[in-house]
Amino acid sequence: MTSATAPGKIILFGEHAVVYGQPALAAPVTQVFTAVDVTDTLRAGIEVEAPAVGLHGELRALPLAHPLRSTVESLFRALSIVSPPYLKITITSSIPVASGLGSGAAVSVALIRALSAHFGHALDDAQVNALAYETEKLHHGTPSGIDNTVITYGRPVYFVRGELTETFEPGAPFSIVIGDTGVSALTKESVGDVRKLWEADKKRWEKVFAKVGKVTKRATAAIETGKIDKLGALMDENHALLQAMTVSSPELDKLVLMARAAGADGAKLSGGGRGGNMIALVRPERAEKVASALLAAGARSTITTIIT
Ligand code: MEV
Repeated sequence: MTSATAPGKIILFGEHAVVYGQPALAAPVTQVFTAVDVTDTLRAGIEVEAPAVGLHGELRALPLAHPLRSTVESLFRALSIVSPPYLKITITSSIPVASGLGSGAAVSVALIRALSAHFGHALDDAQVNALAYETEKLHHGTPSGIDNTVITYGRPVYFVRGELTETFEPGAPFSIVIGDTGVSALTKESVGDVRKLWEADKKRWEKVFAKVGKVTKRATAAIETGKIDKLGALMDENHALLQAMTVSSPELDKLVLMARAAGADGAKLSGGGRGGNMIALVRPERAEKVASALLAAGARSTITTIIT
C-alpha cells in the first residue's frame, strides 16, 4: 500500500481579489487533512472508495470531468501510463467539504502524491501543483491556483496568480481561531458571482480588488517583521471589502462580530465565503475564550492553529 496526506488551508488575506491578479496570503491547516491509500488488487479496473462524499465504485463509471477521474487520468497521462494495474484507491478526509478549507484541492494533492509514489515516480512539488491546478479548474471554473499551491507546499505562501510561488516564514508566530458556520457553500458560485459584478462594472471592482491587494501587502510586511499587532485591523478591513463583494453571509458576519467581541484582534471570512469558515486573530491566552464564544454563537466547530 502507498499512502499520502495533504492538509487543509485558510486564506489569511486576499481571497477573490487574487483571482484578478492581486496578491493573497494563505497558510496550511494541519489539524485537518485528507489521506489517500493506494493498493494493488486482483479485481479488474480502478475501484474508488471515498465515504465522505458517498462514493464507492469504479473510477470509469464517473463522468469524464469528475475531479477524481480527471485527476487520476491526467496523472496517468503525465507518467505515460497506458494500462494501469488493478488498483483500489481509498480517500478519507477530516476537512469539511464546501467549507473554504480546501477539501477539493487536498484530495487532488494527496491523490497525485499517493499514485505517483505507488508507480515509483514521486513528483516534485511544482509537478504536483501543476496537476492539482488542472483539477481545481473543474472544481471552480476560474481558480487563482492559491488553494492547490498552499496545500502542495504545506507552508504559508504569498501568492500572485501566474507568478512563482513564494513560501514565507512569519517574523513571529501568531494564533488563529477558525470557526465553521456549518453552512456549505461552493467556491465556484461565489467566484462566479464576483465575476458577474466585475463584468458589469470592471473599473469599480478593480478598485475594490486593488484595495484588498494593498491590505494584503501591508499584512505581509507586518507578518514578515513580526508586527502581529498590526494584523487585526487589516483583517477587519479585508472583511469589509469582502462584504462589499457580496461574499459574506449573515452567519459569517455573526461569527466575525462575536469573535471580535470575545477579544479577537480582528476577524474575517476565509476562502470563497457565503458560508464555510471564518478566521479570528487572537492572542494565545484568548484563544479558548474566542473559540467558546464562536461555539455559543452557533459555530459547528472551531480549530485553533498557530501560523509559524
Ligand atoms: C478560495 O480559497 C479562494 C478564492 O480566491 C478563489 C481562488 O483564488 O481561486 C475565493
